[in-house]
Amino acid sequence: MSIRPIGILDSGVGGLTVLREIRAILPHEPMAYLADSANLPYGSKTDIWIQQRVLHLADQMVNRYDIKTLVVACNTATAAAAGALRGHLSIPVIGMEPAVKPASEATKNGTVGILATEGTIRSARLAGLLKAFADGLHVITRPCPGLVEMIENSEPGSAELRENVEQFLQPLLHQGADTIVLGCTHYPLLRELIRDIVGPDIHLIDTGAAVARQTLRQLTRQGLLGPPVDQPAIRLFTTGPTDVFSGVIQRLFTDLASVPVGHFTE
Ligand code: DGL
Repeated sequence: MSIRPIGILDSGVGGLTVLREIRAILPHEPMAYLADSANLPYGSKTDIWIQQRVLHLADQMVNRYDIKTLVVACNTATAAAAGALRGHLSIPVIGMEPAVKPASEATKNGTVGILATEGTIRSARLAGLLKAFADGLHVITRPCPGLVEMIENSEPGSAELRENVEQFLQPLLHQGADTIVLGCTHYPLLRELIRDIVGPDIHLIDTGAAVARQTLRQLTRQGLLGPPVDQPAIRLFTTGPTDVFSGVIQRLFTDLASVPVGHFTE
């Protein structure tokens, strides 16, 4: 058993959609969440920049918070840096990947759309997943520049957000996708809006719950599960201004609104 926290890393609040899923099946685990908000978005940065940055932050999380495992709750960072992180850290590293395999199993008409950041869309990791699981399917990949920033900065009901999401979805709907992969951990926050735009019949798939199950398996296998405590510490940190980050949480994660936010000083 281990009382050390699970470390969770993202460029912003998107990884909190994964934290929620982890908390749902591992309610006794302490967690330390770091948002690199000062550098959001990762999607438009180079792979080498992301890799160096994420290696640095992961080292800091090990040193400062004594994390027992690292969940890279960001598809873009996983695509750029998961291999390097696994080679570098001595704790287990769990990454995100766009749900290509589940989508290939869900589609009935063989047409799948993938929404993700530019970084994820151009990644070798996505190309590998498509090769392995989407052979013979018609796949429409759609980078969504600016969407992560818009999710963090707009009201969920804003007309501008809706207009942009409609525009990103347009080619997928036009080409008849019956299954849409939400390939960025921020996008589950748009699930209701997307559902409203695409209607009830299209599958919307993300991998937060699968990553939570993977975290449970990994901790179990390594004997690292925490003891059954009632109120495990959840700590949130940001590299950006704490008041801005807290504001985003108040707006988008009411269940986490009372968790204090600390500044990650560099
Ligand atoms: N949540 C991150 C992801 O899953 C967003 C990356 C970004 O900052 O662009 O890709």
